[in-house]
Amino acid sequence: MDLGIEGRVALVTGAGRGIGRAICLTLAGEGARVAVNDIVQERAETVADEIRRNGGTAIGVAADVTDQEQVEAMVRQVEEALGPVDILVNNAGIPLATAEVVPATGQLFVESDRAQWDRTMHIITYGTLYCTRAVLPGMIERRWGRIVNIVSDAGRVGEIRLVPYSMAKAGVIGFSKALAKEVGRFCITVNCVSPATTETEATRDWIEAQRERIMAFYPLARGLGRLGQPQDIANAVAFLASQRAEWVTGQVLSVNGGYSMVD
Ligand SMILES: NC(=O)c1ccc[n+]([C@@H]2O[C@H](COP(=O)([O-])OP(=O)(O)OC[C@H]3O[C@@H](n4cnc5c(N)ncnc54)[C@H](O)[C@@H]3O)[C@@H](O)[C@H]2O)c1
Repeated sequence: MDLGIEGRVALVTGAGRGIGRAICLTLAGEGARVAVNDIVQERAETVADEIRRNGGTAIGVAADVTDQEQVEAMVRQVEEALGPVDILVNNAGIPLATAEVVPATGQLFVESDRAQWDRTMHIITYGTLYCTRAVLPGMIERRWGRIVNIVSDAGRVGEIRLVPYSMAKAGVIGFSKALAKEVGRFCITVNCVSPATTETEATRDWIEAQRERIMAFYPLARGLGRLGQPQDIANAVAFLASQRAEWVTGQVLSVNGGYSMVD
């Protein structure tokens, strides 16, 4: 199936590894020209190199999505190098110090403090606000756009030791639905992809310590003999970012092996 995004320019945040990396490689495989963002420049460059080695078009762009000036400069850099952004994937969502959001070591809310809330809220909510605000005028002008926000089942059903994270992700779901209503008239769609546990560098140690226990929560895990992988999330993002999904907006698609089933 041709997804109809050949030549489209995609910007994916927090994409120097994990889920974001898989999204970049998948969109590039569909012919999109990809800007790989990460706060760690080397990670962004490594993924961009990988895409170019595979014959695709990509640049690495270092920026901290919690800093609005850096985000605006990043978008200008992408536009100069690749052209206006058609597809934005707000994927950055785990601060560099991951301990505070990974359940094994995450804190109970009653033990948490303002500094931890700020880090989580800034990357998830302000990161999404800044990046979306920076690309939206161009999408409106061109009357085409795809915005895909990577949320979490924690934001749909709540998760112990992930209280501010659950709050922030639920906020992004509300943001996506409201924005979808505002910009539908410009043929811009806004959707969410909601992973549950997915094996990435951020979750690897936690999973390794209790793989069997975690797998029991996932109806498909026994059958497939695995947990969620970045490619599972990337496949859903590719559809929602595509021409094929032009009649889908304001939706949340859980890609979670059946972990939660939300109406
Ligand atoms: N892995 C999971 O189990 C899981 C589950 C549900 C949702 N998610 C969501 O999926 C997304 C990706 O998760 P992942 O597991 O691939 O994470 P990851 O930590 O493996 O990768 C995230 C990347 O984001 C970069 N980053 C951190 N802060 C940044 C900032 N301020 N600006 C730009 N880049 C920044 C990091 O350097 C890193 O390369 C996140 O939004 C996360 O909340 C992940």
